[in-house]
Amino acid sequence: MALQFELLSTRASGARRARIHLPHQTVETPVFMPVGTQGTVKAVQQSTLETIGPNQIGAQIILGNTYHLYLRPGHELIARLGGLHKFISWPRAMLTDSGGFQVFSLSDLRKISDEGVRFRSHLDGSSHMFTPEHSMDVQIALGADICMAFDECTEYPADEARARESLRYTLAWAARSLSHFRANQHRVPWHTEILQSDGALATQSLFGIVQGGMYPHLRRESAERLLELEHEGSGFDGFAIGGLSVGEPRELTRQVIAETLPYLPKDKPRYVMGVGYPDEIVEYARMGVDMMDCVIPTRAARHGLLFTNAEATGVARMNIKNRQYAEDKNPPDPSCICPTCSRYSRAYLRHLAQTGEPLGGILNSIHNLHFYLTTMANLRAELESA
Ligand code: GUN
Ligand code: ZN
Repeated sequence: MALQFELLSTRASGARRARIHLPHQTVETPVFMPVGTQGTVKAVQQSTLETIGPNQIGAQIILGNTYHLYLRPGHELIARLGGLHKFISWPRAMLTDSGGFQVFSLSDLRKISDEGVRFRSHLDGSSHMFTPEHSMDVQIALGADICMAFDECTEYPADEARARESLRYTLAWAARSLSHFRANQHRVPWHTEILQSDGALATQSLFGIVQGGMYPHLRRESAERLLELEHEGSGFDGFAIGGLSVGEPRELTRQVIAETLPYLPKDKPRYVMGVGYPDEIVEYARMGVDMMDCVIPTRAARHGLLFTNAEATGVARMNIKNRQYAEDKNPPDPSCICPTCSRYSRAYLRHLAQTGEPLGGILNSIHNLHFYLTTMANLRAELESA
């Protein structure tokens, strides 16, 4: 059976505190999911990911990418090694994105048709075809706990005709994703290995993705049509809002989320893809979003940007390369208990960033992920209190 969604409480604002029971982990929500595109959350090893955050709760779920892992090292190789969890030695939950976004943002020479997308690899220029069926086959071989429907991420800006055309692909591909996934999900590498609490075999789950550009009526239509889809009585296990963080102003992102959430079912997980800065993820969780992912904490870390508690440091974002930190003996964030702030000074992190030492990116990434996980844990505690 697919995921179990346990709704613990809902606020008048729509904010929810819930639990998602997945084959490899019970995930406490609202949750932030670190991105591990290539089967690694960049610069942070798995044992560290398992122990950062308040009470060493660690990351409960991380992302992987169908597009990247299909190209290298190949999904069939990963399946032969027992699936993505075993390959990368990550015992907790994982989610794979379908390739619908990466094909559009990374590859050259895309050609879209009803069948799917033909594209050239960003690695060697070789030609490949992704169809909804192929994306499902790759995601089943990888074996993440949650898979995503194959969609088209509408670019920004897009006029209404273009957003409607894009949505037409996404809806047709969602139906094909669901049928093919349900018919083949027994092929997951761990199919006979994981039992649920009731003794039944655990299975992967599949989420549909709402598109529709920045047009509220198209977003509504997208959500309603996705909700109608079923394969032998079983629909999507959760719903994502895609097509955001594509260059639109932040206020528009918030508006589209606010206008889309009312059309999503209350008894299934809601996931906003590819957001955001710390204040954004808090804002969206307070509106009723359960799951979010973003490269920001790890990418910013590699550029020397640290997210800090403004009450403790005076700044919400600290550029550790700044001259002012050259002789600063303080930890990056004196209120932070992460392994980086527990041991190292701003002066040392600045030196590592200035010299381009790999350890700088590692230590900064640990701090930023700890900050994101702490932010979400604090929010969950707040949603639990009366
Ligand atoms: N990641 C961020 N946005 C999107 C989207 O619209 N679709 C998919 N598949 N992944 C995303
Ligand atoms: Zn820290």
